[in-house]
Amino acid sequence: MLTVPHLPVTKNYKSLAVLTSGGDAPGMNAAIRSVVRYALAHGLEVYGVNKGYSGLLEGQMEKLLPSSVANIIQRGGTMLKTDRCAAFYKKSVRLEAANLMKRKGIDALVVIGGDGSFTGAHLLEKETGFPTIGIPGTIDNDIAGTEDTIGFDTALNTAIDAIDRIRDTASSHDRIFIVEVMGRSSGFIASEVGLGGGAETILVPEKKVTVAEVCRTIERGIVRGKSSSIIVMAEGEKPGMCTKMALALEKRGYSTKVCILGHTQRGGKPTAHDRVLASVLGASAVAYLLAGRSDAMVGVQEGSVKLVPFRQVVDAGKKLPLDLLTLAQTLAT
Ligand code: F6P
Repeated sequence: MLTVPHLPVTKNYKSLAVLTSGGDAPGMNAAIRSVVRYALAHGLEVYGVNKGYSGLLEGQMEKLLPSSVANIIQRGGTMLKTDRCAAFYKKSVRLEAANLMKRKGIDALVVIGGDGSFTGAHLLEKETGFPTIGIPGTIDNDIAGTEDTIGFDTALNTAIDAIDRIRDTASSHDRIFIVEVMGRSSGFIASEVGLGGGAETILVPEKKVTVAEVCRTIERGIVRGKSSSIIVMAEGEKPGMCTKMALALEKRGYSTKVCILGHTQRGGKPTAHDRVLASVLGASAVAYLLAGRSDAMVGVQEGSVKLVPFRQVVDAGKKLPLDLLTLAQTLAT
């Protein structure tokens, strides 16, 4: 079971700020709640920054009390709102952000987001010395240095629920369906959704598969008496590519329906797993800051909370184990 590491308090921080950045993920609210209440319990003041790095630059922040984060643990989205802030790629802008926080008496910044957000946090600390710490929050689970990210489990469950429904209608009509899931250029969502949803075929950006190979899999299913088939496809760089695949299959004589799950995977109430993960990682982030550690992300490795330097997180891509695809294929026969 995941627990918050016991660490000696070495820093006399008085105040920290917390923001969410990048795509929202179910469980971000639980993480905010944990950061706020754990920090307050340890005598700190907490500022909630509105709208990620963009809001930070505009000084959009307010002090949070225990009651500010009441009744949010079960809610999807992020009460702090979020943004993808292109301006934060500029060094001068990061310097401005650090100065603004210093003027407000803020000692450290907690960033809940993905690897793009952590790149900003890493550079902020490297260039200005302002302490930052990251909490992995993305449905994609594509962050190096952690086996799990907040929101991934909820997104998997949402997508698998959709596949169960699609399978009902697919089998009633003897149809082939392509279900497109999120994950941008990484196939973590697709491979686990495909395995857990019993998909006949899983297509991920990490493994090139030809249309002819997809047809052969469908054909093998038909030979074994399968009258319907579910193909789970990762969106890749651009959402909607599943329609191209469907057209290619049509051309080869396989009538195919598509269903793009899109942003439905980002919303909804977080699962128990994501709430617990967010609660433990939120508190751990504060505990590490108070122990004088920063420029790093709190992650999960082999069932424990680990502190991973940002430089190892942002420089390394997370490799998808392709074994799951092989297993899914074996089990779908
Ligand atoms: O990174 C999370 C994610 O949901 C990806 O899976 C997806 O490609 C992207 O964000 C969509 O971003 P936006 O909501 O900005 O279109």
